[in-house]
Amino acid sequence: MTLRLDVVTIFPDYFAPLSLSLVGKAIESGLVELGVHDLRQWTHDRHRTVDDTPYGGGAGMVMKPEPWGEALDALVGPDTTLVVPTPSGRPFDQATAYELADESHLVCACGRYEGIDARVVAYARERMRVREVSLGDYVLNGGEVAVLVMTEAIVRLLPGVVGNPESLREESHAPEHEGLLEYPVFTKPPRWRGLDVPEILFSGHHARIAQWRREQSLELTRQRRPDLLPDAD
Ligand code: ADE
Repeated sequence: MTLRLDVVTIFPDYFAPLSLSLVGKAIESGLVELGVHDLRQWTHDRHRTVDDTPYGGGAGMVMKPEPWGEALDALVGPDTTLVVPTPSGRPFDQATAYELADESHLVCACGRYEGIDARVVAYARERMRVREVSLGDYVLNGGEVAVLVMTEAIVRLLPGVVGNPESLREESHAPEHEGLLEYPVFTKPPRWRGLDVPEILFSGHHARIAQWRREQSLELTRQRRPDLLPDAD
C-alpha cells in the first residue's frame, strides 16, 4: 500500500533532503508519494500575504485562515489525516509513528510565526481526522523540521522500506522491547584503545546474550528514562 504525503509550507526548500537515503528510495520505488506545496499559491494579493497581526494584541504574527482553507480544499480527500506539528500538540512517539504509518493519506500543515489561526484546525476537526503533535518540550521556528523528523520516523516503518525488518524489532522504543531503550552494540575489533567488547558476546550462548541485553536495556532505561519503565519492573 502506498502512503500519500502532502506537505503545505511557505518554505518548500526545507524538504529537499527527503530525496536522500531511505526516504528518497521509498519515494523512488513508489512506496511513498510526496507532494510539497507552497502555501502562497493559495493567496490572491500582490504580496502573497500569509500572516497578520493577532486579535487581542501581543507579539508576533498569526497565519491567516484563508490560504489554509484553500489548501485543504485542494488537497484533502475522503481518507485524509491532517497532521499539525505544534509545541502544544500531543507528544509524537513511536506509537504515533506506527499509527500514522498505517494511514493512506497524510496532509502536514507547517505553521510559522505564532501559529495558524485556530479556526483552521477547528474547521478541519469537523471534517477529517486531525493530529496536533509535538516533537518535545522546546520551540522550533516552524513545523518544517518537525515534519522532516516525523516523515523519517513514519516512512521507515512502511513494509519494504527498511531492508531487514528484524532491525525495527530490536531498536529503542520498539513495541517488542516493551518500549525500553536499546542495549549497547559492538563490532570488530574485540579490543579498541584499551576497551574490550563484553565477554558474554563471544560466548555463542544466545539465551544468555539475550538475557544480558535485556538487563542492559533495563538498566539504561532506569538511569535515563525511568518514565518508560513498565510498572511491573
Ligand atoms: N513547531 C514548533 N515547535 C514545535 C515542536 N516542539 N514540535 C512540533 N512542532 C513544532
